Amino acid sequence: MNKKWWQNAVVYQVYPRSFQDSNGDGIGDIKGIIQRLDYLQKLGINVIWLSPVYQSPNDDNGYDISDYYNIMAEFGTMEDMDELIAEAKKRNISLVMDLVVNHTSDEHKWFVEAKKATDNEYRDYYVWRDPVDGKAPNDLGSVFGGSAWEYDDETEQYFLHLFSKRQPDLNWDNKEMRYEIYDMMNFWLEKGIGGFRMDVIELIGKVPDEGITANGPLVHDYLQEMNRKTFGNYDVMTVGETNSATIEDAKLFSGEDRQELSMVFQFEHVNLDQQPNKSKWDLKPLSLIELKEVLSRWQYELQEEGWNSLFWNNHDQPRIVSRWGNDQEFRVESAKMFAILLHMMKGTPYIYQGEEIGMTNSVITDISQADDVETLNMYRERIEEGYSEKEIFESINAKGRDNARTPMQWDHTAEGGFTSGKPWLAVNPNYSAINVEQALKDKESIFYCYQKLIQLRKEHSLIVYGKYELLLPDHPTLFAYTRSYGEEKWLIVANFSETENQISLSQEPTDLKPIISNRKVESYNLKELILSPYEAFVVKVDDLVM
Ligand code: GLC
Ligand code: CA
Repeated sequence: MNKKWWQNAVVYQVYPRSFQDSNGDGIGDIKGIIQRLDYLQKLGINVIWLSPVYQSPNDDNGYDISDYYNIMAEFGTMEDMDELIAEAKKRNISLVMDLVVNHTSDEHKWFVEAKKATDNEYRDYYVWRDPVDGKAPNDLGSVFGGSAWEYDDETEQYFLHLFSKRQPDLNWDNKEMRYEIYDMMNFWLEKGIGGFRMDVIELIGKVPDEGITANGPLVHDYLQEMNRKTFGNYDVMTVGETNSATIEDAKLFSGEDRQELSMVFQFEHVNLDQQPNKSKWDLKPLSLIELKEVLSRWQYELQEEGWNSLFWNNHDQPRIVSRWGNDQEFRVESAKMFAILLHMMKGTPYIYQGEEIGMTNSVITDISQADDVETLNMYRERIEEGYSEKEIFESINAKGRDNARTPMQWDHTAEGGFTSGKPWLAVNPNYSAINVEQALKDKESIFYCYQKLIQLRKEHSLIVYGKYELLLPDHPTLFAYTRSYGEEKWLIVANFSETENQISLSQEPTDLKPIISNRKVESYNLKELILSPYEAFVVKVDDLVM
């Protein structure tokens, strides 16, 4: 495998609306991000994935773009953006832009034109169909609830929207449209960005008439064409959000000789706490055995071919420490356990803003406190379907996307130092205890655990390229694996539970100093290991008989 710079990079995701407000309007902005670059440099990350900052009416918080060549006024100007790219570069941080090209906003000039008439020159940039028996062409559903087809009274046809009805799907079979997208991508590449995170990219080969959305027959052709015409001519990273990719799909998207993407970003592990064949709102407890099986399968199968992203959180997922850890008594321990488990795996790790200080989910009790279009749609639908408020709020508080979108908690002052005004979404009330200022002061904080893990990845090829092997696959509460590279072998052990755990992992007693641990332990005896709640550590074991 040829080595690439992004294989030992660590990515930090900035959700700009909630990162740092610089002018008191309650909305995070680009100037605010610039103010916090030193902080990110201190953490040690090399890449920022910036969620969309383009002009947008914000039906889906920027994932509905009305102009790819302009910055959302609330976030700043193109000059601010150029400055952000340059200031990041000074700190050896490259900026990966979010590329949302499965759909646009309904306010994009292409759609405004397309809607005017069936023979408009932009009509075919989108997906239009005649009604069938006076109804939608088929029963394809939108990810955000309801039908994926919306009727347009003026022109008497339906258009496709796999997300909200204000996010009409682009028609990738139209070559002019594709080439306009490539021009736009080159405009950004010319600015010196570090690559693209490609929103729901697996959907661009859709064949809606056959009910095919993800992984349609042409998706790989389109990506190879895009690669040739745009980013393939630059040394950048590209990551495809591929929600439903199987391992075989992932190899096609990210295989070295495929000329498509650097890596995939797939969700199999974070879908384990939902009931099979139901929606994300239909909760089920996590089984650690299943989690180990899924994460390990991806480790094994992409060992030789393809590249994966490693993540617990993003702007669409609840906070991991609240989701599968303990955000009360063991908040610090469990947050560090998740960090150690993930950052010792093979792939490119992603940290979602606030994860590095152990920010937690927020709790809401009234729908007026929710912002997200997905949550609001689900609430409306489930009330109609007769669900109780209690059930609905259980789902929202567990899985709602607003959980991860509350403002970044910088210090103990009003609104956590995020804004001097009124924040667009309420700051989690625990900001006075959980914030960056506190984390930087405390040498034992979650922040420094992440900092160390990032440093270790820069120093050890074993973490980047080593072979992965799962131990104890059927153990219900321990997660243990090894990584080996040449003569070197590391053991990673985590007690994924709130109770003490005992195990023997070596035939001989050992006295091993941890490379990293979330407890103050001088040395580990693997023959008689006693692990406190959420304890996690890494030791070098080389040729130890285990
Ligand atoms: C992706 C984004 C999500 C957005 C959706 C539609 O899944 O991460 O935030 O709502 O695509 O663009
Ligand atoms: Ca602002």
